[in-house]
Amino acid sequence: MAKSSMELTTPILKKLGEAVQQSADGKNQEIARLEAIRLAQLVLSNLRSPDEVAFETAFLGTQAVCCRIAIKLDLFGILSRSSRSMSVTELATITKAEPLLLVRITRMLGAMRLVEEVGKQEYRALPVTTVMANPIRAAVHCHAWDQSVPCLSRFPEYLDKYGLKCPSDQTTGLFQYAFKTDQGAFDYWFSRPEILDLVNTVMEGARGASPSWAEWFPIQERIIDGAKTDNSVLVVDVGGGRGHNLEEFRKRYPQPKGRLVLQDLEPVMNDARTVHEDITILPYDFFKPQPIRGARAYYFAHIFHDWAEAQSLVILKHTAAAMTKGYSKVFINDFILPDTGASLTQSGLDITMMSVNAGIERSQDQWTDLLDKAGFAVVKFWLPNGPGEGIVEAVLKG
Ligand SMILES: C[S@@+](CC[C@H](N)C(=O)[O-])C[C@H]1O[C@@H](n2cnc3c(N)ncnc32)[C@H](O)[C@@H]1O
Repeated sequence: MAKSSMELTTPILKKLGEAVQQSADGKNQEIARLEAIRLAQLVLSNLRSPDEVAFETAFLGTQAVCCRIAIKLDLFGILSRSSRSMSVTELATITKAEPLLLVRITRMLGAMRLVEEVGKQEYRALPVTTVMANPIRAAVHCHAWDQSVPCLSRFPEYLDKYGLKCPSDQTTGLFQYAFKTDQGAFDYWFSRPEILDLVNTVMEGARGASPSWAEWFPIQERIIDGAKTDNSVLVVDVGGGRGHNLEEFRKRYPQPKGRLVLQDLEPVMNDARTVHEDITILPYDFFKPQPIRGARAYYFAHIFHDWAEAQSLVILKHTAAAMTKGYSKVFINDFILPDTGASLTQSGLDITMMSVNAGIERSQDQWTDLLDKAGFAVVKFWLPNGPGEGIVEAVLKG
């Protein structure tokens, strides 16, 4: 006889208890915490009936739109700045929104546990409310809703028109279909000053809640040891946005022996003038030959997930041509997807990348294949907390 969902759930609850305990006091705390989340999700999916799950998933989009509207109205900011709970009537007075609209939006935010519902139409901030009010997180929500959702909403009809396959070209992708443009997404955004700052803010949040590479990657051993000390270039951060990854590197390794170079497109570099004077700013389009030759490290954070194979190969081949064999290395800081059990965040980012720029999040096999085609060999997949965000270290083959 098939086991009931409660019988299936009991042993998982036991494992969950152990994982929670380990995440509190064991070594590998982060790995134990991630395992606890996975088990808790398994418990939930066992407890919910199949019909409940099938019905509820039809309305997932409504969660995102309520977040987007809450950000527009600064609801997370208002609640997190208040030391007490607030009624919907108060929130309506401050935001000038219709009270009924706020009743309906805050109800969803309460159901999502983004705010705490403390009584009838009365809410207070949770720790996550404050994070939702953070400008980088808010920008990610706005960008995802404003730029990706219009593409996703047309994805089914796009498949009818272009065939049942992933978009793989930046001029005939979903973004171009949805926005009726032949510009690539980055060109489209950067030619619109009204969204440039938002886009650059979003890019600073590209690594999500993962720690900075400077906090966990063995930079001393893999980059600094063995590097030239004659003021040649130590690290080039290619497509480095406004420079936050190099800034974190510089703070942890002040007075590096070699130079640090930040590269990105001209409009982004014009927006990055406040980086520390030790960092050289160099506008550069990575579809053109790499002007910095023979650097120790070419660092790419959240770059290749934006691009399909053909474009990624162009970028990698320009990098390979600039590298000194036996000395230069490439470090790719991106998701390294697990072969099984990818999380909702990992899968969601993959679909988002596909929607805006025909991009893709890659597994170890896909990274190895891509790098091999561009003339590189993988040295190591560095995964600080198991499959997920990590660094692929690669060198020229042969
Ligand atoms: C997802 S963001 C990553 C930014 C940063 N590396 C990080 O990890 O936060 C992608 C970056 O690629 C840059 N980019 C896009 N097209 C580029 C190009 N053709 N040449 C150089 N940079 C480009 C964007 O301006 C943006 O800063």
